[in-house]
Amino acid sequence: MLKGKKIAIIGAGKMGETLVTRLLSTGTLKKEQLYVTAKHDSRISHFKEKFGVKGSTVNADAVRDADIILLCVKPQIAPKVIASIRESINAEQLVISIMAGFTIAQLQKALVLPLPVIRAMPNTPCEIGAGMTVLASGNKTNGDQIRFAEALFGAVGKTMVLDEKYFDAVTGLSASGPAFIYVVIEALAEGGVKCGLPRDVSTALVAQACLGAARMVAETNQHPAILKDHVTTPAGCTIDGLLKLEEGGIRVTMIKAVDEAARKAKVLGAE
Ligand SMILES: NC(=O)c1ccc[n+]([C@@H]2O[C@H](COP(=O)([O-])OP(=O)(O)OC[C@H]3O[C@@H](n4cnc5c(N)ncnc54)[C@H](OP(=O)(O)O)[C@@H]3O)[C@@H](O)[C@H]2O)c1
Repeated sequence: MLKGKKIAIIGAGKMGETLVTRLLSTGTLKKEQLYVTAKHDSRISHFKEKFGVKGSTVNADAVRDADIILLCVKPQIAPKVIASIRESINAEQLVISIMAGFTIAQLQKALVLPLPVIRAMPNTPCEIGAGMTVLASGNKTNGDQIRFAEALFGAVGKTMVLDEKYFDAVTGLSASGPAFIYVVIEALAEGGVKCGLPRDVSTALVAQACLGAARMVAETNQHPAILKDHVTTPAGCTIDGLLKLEEGGIRVTMIKAVDEAARKAKVLGAE
């Protein structure tokens, strides 16, 4: 899908490195197809030494020959960075932004030229290829360009195309979600420790229970309530544990956590 395409990664920080690592290790791209930029020379040297990709601290140099421009800088400096490339890009190029809270309208306004744009929201499990990236496209973007974005982010996990109106909710659930699950994993592991398990054993058991449960939901397409019912023998152990979860208000707490994170995403976006 991306054969021969040249990709410029503007702001090759944590997310940029995750993408470069997986794009190369999965064979999605060859190193010759990548050009990265950063603020500091030391960061560029790191990319050249580790991956053998081209790099520069001059953003305009990276975008001139690129088919796809991936904006990975912090949203606060987006206007300055977009201004630094604006004169060097043309309407044939696709611009993809992963900048949290930076809308398609803001992106199009900053670019001035009516370019095809895609907004992407990846999450941290992308680091191990188990991420989820939600994509939303602007009105100048065609089907092939959406497929390019799916192929790019397919290297770091799953992708889903949604309307941009869902992005605050996506941020609260898909981007913040891993942090919520880590708290659940940590707490359940403490439960194992309380019952006498060594901490490493306890953590390994919880991690595998979460992986298994997540795959059951994703792969059987059964409602989580039905899967839960299958574990819950009448008058057995699980129902007693579930009773404690309900007593602690776990559902309301989880719903409020996602709702609050989504609300904050909206506020940050407006700022
Ligand atoms: N991390 C996540 O889990 C995650 C998830 C979803 C979305 N995002 C979004 O992804 C973006 C990047 O996040 P991150 O965690 O990768 O941030 P990061 O590690 O701080 O990376 C930002 C990069 O931008 C570079 N930079 C700064 N000024 C620049 C300029 N004028 N021109 C070119 N490059 C410049 C920095 O260069 P130096 O290294 O030389 O300072 C750095 O490498 C953010 O917009 C964030 O909202 C992140």
